[in-house]
Amino acid sequence: MSHTVYASLSAENNCSILGIICNMSKVDEVNLDEQKFRIISRLNELWWNENGDLVTLHSSSKLLARYIRDEIVRGGIARADSMHTDTPLSDVSVLEVGCGGGILTEQLARMGCTITGIDVIVDLIEVGKQRASSDPFLLSKVIYKKESVEEHAVHNAEKYDVVVSHFCLEQSDDHNSFINFCSKCLKPGGIIFTSTVSKTFWSWLGIVYLFEKFLKCIPVGMHDWDRCITAGDFRQILKRNDCTTIGTRGFYYNYFTKNSFWIPGLCLFYITHAKKNIHEEQHEDDHNCKN
Ligand SMILES: C[S@@+](CC[C@H](N)C(=O)[O-])C[C@H]1O[C@@H](n2cnc3c(N)ncnc32)[C@H](O)[C@@H]1O
Repeated sequence: MSHTVYASLSAENNCSILGIICNMSKVDEVNLDEQKFRIISRLNELWWNENGDLVTLHSSSKLLARYIRDEIVRGGIARADSMHTDTPLSDVSVLEVGCGGGILTEQLARMGCTITGIDVIVDLIEVGKQRASSDPFLLSKVIYKKESVEEHAVHNAEKYDVVVSHFCLEQSDDHNSFINFCSKCLKPGGIIFTSTVSKTFWSWLGIVYLFEKFLKCIPVGMHDWDRCITAGDFRQILKRNDCTTIGTRGFYYNYFTKNSFWIPGLCLFYITHAKKNIHEEQHEDDHNCKN
């Protein structure tokens, strides 16, 4: 969520998660460590309340983490001998762009991968770091950095087996550039997973109107519908950035059971995964290295 979104939301509910983040800029200015510590603790409680403001993030992360794991294994990126262990993603390196306080990051880390979580909001990175610091397993698997993907790509070209972004694309003004920087961080042959909100009448009705305005189970303004994109248009962006789409699945959230579930269409939420193309000269280089 951009600072703009947080700012507009805080006006409606000053006690909300978004209001707290908005107030952080003031805390930064006066550098009151104690106050900042209290705010991060409060933010931690709000970010990690599975039934609170971010219920849809929590429930969708559970569904998508399993999907991401299965597709990484199916794509041959995970080691074959790890597949039937508790940590099937051992030796897989993952970048999560827009990791927030680490909801999806932690789930993927527990599957065994080493994961770098980056986010532009420093206080959310602190939330993730604090939680990881009390868990030795997480500490050995997760690195959190306050960085945009644009900054990260400068020093981390072709570094990761997998790049993931979960509800981050729809916050970008320029989808092509966002995917371009994500793809730069990916090794040739690596997989990029992107979950987002489709730009259809049904997503406006079922997400913006129903969830945000009527049921109020998502903070108002969290999804900027104008910045959303349909799955078809998104596939073209992936293609322009040298990535070939492997699959796309639609999902939605059940307000009563608080669970996310797969749906047949792609008109609400969806996740797409695509493979970064390997070019002939890369094949040849690999071949020459081996001989
Ligand atoms: C909805 S939150 C994602 C939450 C996270 N995936 C989780 O599971 O907890 C989207 C996040 O993307 C971050 N973000 C947006 N644009 C970004 C960019 N260009 N680079 C890095 N982070 C970005 C925002 O600061 C926000 O925290």
